[in-house]
Amino acid sequence: NSNVPVITIDGPTASGKGTVASRIADRLGFHLLDSGALYRLTALQALRGALPLSDEAGIAKLAQQLPARFRDDVIYLADEDVSHAIRAEEVGNMASKIAALPGVRRALFDLQLGFRQAPGLVADGRDMGTVIFPTAKLKVFLTASAEARAQRRYKQLIDKGFSANMNDLLADLRARDERDTGRAVAPLVAAADAHILDTSAMGVDQAVEQVLTWYTHK
Ligand code: CDP
Ligand code: CDP
Repeated sequence: NSNVPVITIDGPTASGKGTVASRIADRLGFHLLDSGALYRLTALQALRGALPLSDEAGIAKLAQQLPARFRDDVIYLADEDVSHAIRAEEVGNMASKIAALPGVRRALFDLQLGFRQAPGLVADGRDMGTVIFPTAKLKVFLTASAEARAQRRYKQLIDKGFSANMNDLLADLRARDERDTGRAVAPLVAAADAHILDTSAMGVDQAVEQVLTWYTHK
């Protein structure tokens, strides 16, 4: 399936990757891979099982055997709808910690490749263009200022019924950026051939149109 076109959308937390990726997938009729959800699902299971971060083999095994299912906009762990539970900040923070474990990244590798199916795939995450789909037809690196991203995350959490504190969020976000950028394996970095899109002062519609324009002109 290496002929199937892929669009990768990588970037830091709350830059709008998920929102933009899902809109592009709808517009093109492509499949969608929310790779962050795989790390969040693994993190949720590790938290529930009270596995310490030091147990890399145990957490990698959870990733290897992840009973993840994606149906429309619903994400399941076996038969349980965890779409809401995996969006908690606690889960996101744990996801960014376990994502630094090489064994976990290895365990999720083949699972992610399997999403490359006709007629095409839009994949969002941190290493979609650099590690998982280096042959993607279009690579986008979506970014925005830390303040803009914290604002977006704040609104998103409140809308979903979670409580949130702006100062804590900004601190979490900076810590997450540092962990994602500074780790030894698959660090967050724009691919050499990625188009960089700073959306600090840009709405979702405009970002979607820009990506579609790039794709059409490839
Ligand atoms: O929504 P947000 O950008 O905060 O996070 P996410 O995309 O759901 O991913 C959660 C965490 O998983 C991130 O902080 C990353 O550390 C990790 N992740 C990763 O390492 N590689 C990916 N391809 C996707 C996510
Ligand atoms: O996936 P990632 O963590 O990068 O971000 P997201 O979950 O898509 O969340 C971004 C939030 O910011 C969503 O609520 C969007 O509606 C909003 N937003 C955006 O994505 N892009 C903009 N240019 C402006 C706002």
